[in-house]
Amino acid sequence: MLRLQEIQSTSKTGRMNSEKLLEEIKSRIDIVDFISDYVSLKKSGQNYKGLCPFHSEKTPSFMVSQPKQIFHCFGCNAGGDMVSFLMKHENLSFGEALRYIAKKAGIRIEEFGPDKDFSVKREKILQVNEEAVKFFIRNLTAAKGPMDYLKKRGLSEESLKNFSIGYAADQWDALFVHLRKSGYADSLLLNARLVIADGKGSRDFFRKRIIFPISNLKNDVIAFGGRVMDNSLPKYLNSPETDVFKKSETLFAINLAREEIRKKDHAIIVEGYLDAIICHQYGFKNTIAPLGTALTSRQLQKLKILTDKVVLVFDSDAAGIAAARRSLAILCESDFKAKVLLLPQSEDPDSFLRTNGGLLFQKMITEALSMIEFLLKTAKGERTDQVREVLSMVANVRDILRTEEMLGELADRSRLNESALRSELERIKKKTGFQAGEGKKSSIIPSPRQELLLLSAVISFPEKAETVLSRLNVEDISDETIRSLFHKIKTFGDEVSIVALLENADAAEQSLITQLSVDPGFDPELADQNIDDCLQTMAYKSYEERKRRAEAKEPDDIALHNSLLEEKRRFSKGANP
Ligand code: CTP
Ligand code: MN
Repeated sequence: MLRLQEIQSTSKTGRMNSEKLLEEIKSRIDIVDFISDYVSLKKSGQNYKGLCPFHSEKTPSFMVSQPKQIFHCFGCNAGGDMVSFLMKHENLSFGEALRYIAKKAGIRIEEFGPDKDFSVKREKILQVNEEAVKFFIRNLTAAKGPMDYLKKRGLSEESLKNFSIGYAADQWDALFVHLRKSGYADSLLLNARLVIADGKGSRDFFRKRIIFPISNLKNDVIAFGGRVMDNSLPKYLNSPETDVFKKSETLFAINLAREEIRKKDHAIIVEGYLDAIICHQYGFKNTIAPLGTALTSRQLQKLKILTDKVVLVFDSDAAGIAAARRSLAILCESDFKAKVLLLPQSEDPDSFLRTNGGLLFQKMITEALSMIEFLLKTAKGERTDQVREVLSMVANVRDILRTEEMLGELADRSRLNESALRSELERIKKKTGFQAGEGKKSSIIPSPRQELLLLSAVISFPEKAETVLSRLNVEDISDETIRSLFHKIKTFGDEVSIVALLENADAAEQSLITQLSVDPGFDPELADQNIDDCLQTMAYKSYEERKRRAEAKEPDDIALHNSLLEEKRRFSKGANP
């Protein structure tokens, strides 16, 4: 449950609770504009439609309703308002999402809440990280050795600035002392993992290293990577995971590459920090890098908002090829279209670009191998073994059209019959227990139609809730989710707010609310008639149920049977029960 009173905002009218704040936000920002920053939306009838960012799909089932300021995905049942969208998308708490949007809307929100709240904790880590970045940058300007090292590595002033590159000095606790003096609590510095405590006391996590800040899509610094300037080990050190940093969800440079990836509709994926930075410096601003591990599906999920096409750039040694193959498997599962650029032996993008320049690199990007080509070229064994190996990769692709495309290409390149390839693919899929097709469809259990329509009517016309409730015995509702929602609606009295209802709803309830908001399932002109019909039918069902029970359990209760008979008479007269 959300603690609404926690979020206070200052405005001309004084304090307002989060509900009012939400209304204010919604009067300033339109959900269609807001979501368009993350999903490409097209108008479709009353609604806007796009590819769902929360599950992998080829046919759009993600809908946004402008009049209701709500989204719903018919594929995975995700749904909600702007705040829930951002919460889900960026993995934020309610408070964080609300504050982010409020800021965007130009509404000032007071500082609030004690330290215990998770969102506040996260916010503070981001704050102290920001302060640490400034400190590291100042250090670098003053440090000749590290500056020379970076120059020697070919980094331009502009790159240093764009990537906020800094330096952690060769001291035990320079950052610790600085942050403490600036008023940050020791516990926060430990939480942010900027400082480590051991038997000997507290000291800086990064020492004598070049610092590469790592940011999320929103440009918050969530972690750091630190490189030594000599051959000591480990060469790179990354921040340990914190409340704001999950390595497997993070892509280095995504904040800077975001726009260019969207524009070019593909991302270049390299292996290292310096590779990414140098690529940007040479104008390949759609370059990103995982943090020293193979790609993960969580990273790809984030990338998919921007594009579903990538070029992998790898060293052509055995390790590079193995890494590319691992990445391709994940890319297939996430329905990405991938190409592979193999650099000459023992070159990485950084060294290649600085030796050969951007033109040649661009040419190589354009001529990068298709996934099938790469797999065939690097697979081991005889031709048939190679083909089988490729097919086992193709088996991971969920998108049917893409599978077809790949089979076609594989047939061309291997000169094997396409239908033979197809049967072999099916055999592999069966063996690995893989089920083809899109992910599971809607999980909403169909509820009795009347109950659903009644709820839908109230969601479309909250002002009718009171009348409906006065004629409805909520306990008669058989569907648990709908029943629970009507109980909640009841607590609103004469002013039902769908926004507030949404905030107080659990996941299943939320999904139902948003689904009905986007697709009410009845003609609004006939709302009153619909409500009437539903109430009648439900009342009659309830009467039948009571009659059945009375006949079974109290066959001799004359009074009860008379009252039931009276009730039945009223039904046949068509009056409201
Ligand atoms: N990495 C890491 N920890 C290590 C080594 C590597 O996290 N001990 C990650 C870093 O993100 C690094 C990437 O893996 O950028 C690739 O490592 P590597 O190829 O060894 O380094 P380069 O990126 O080429 O770095 P440099 O050019 O500075 O040697
Ligand atoms: Mn390198």
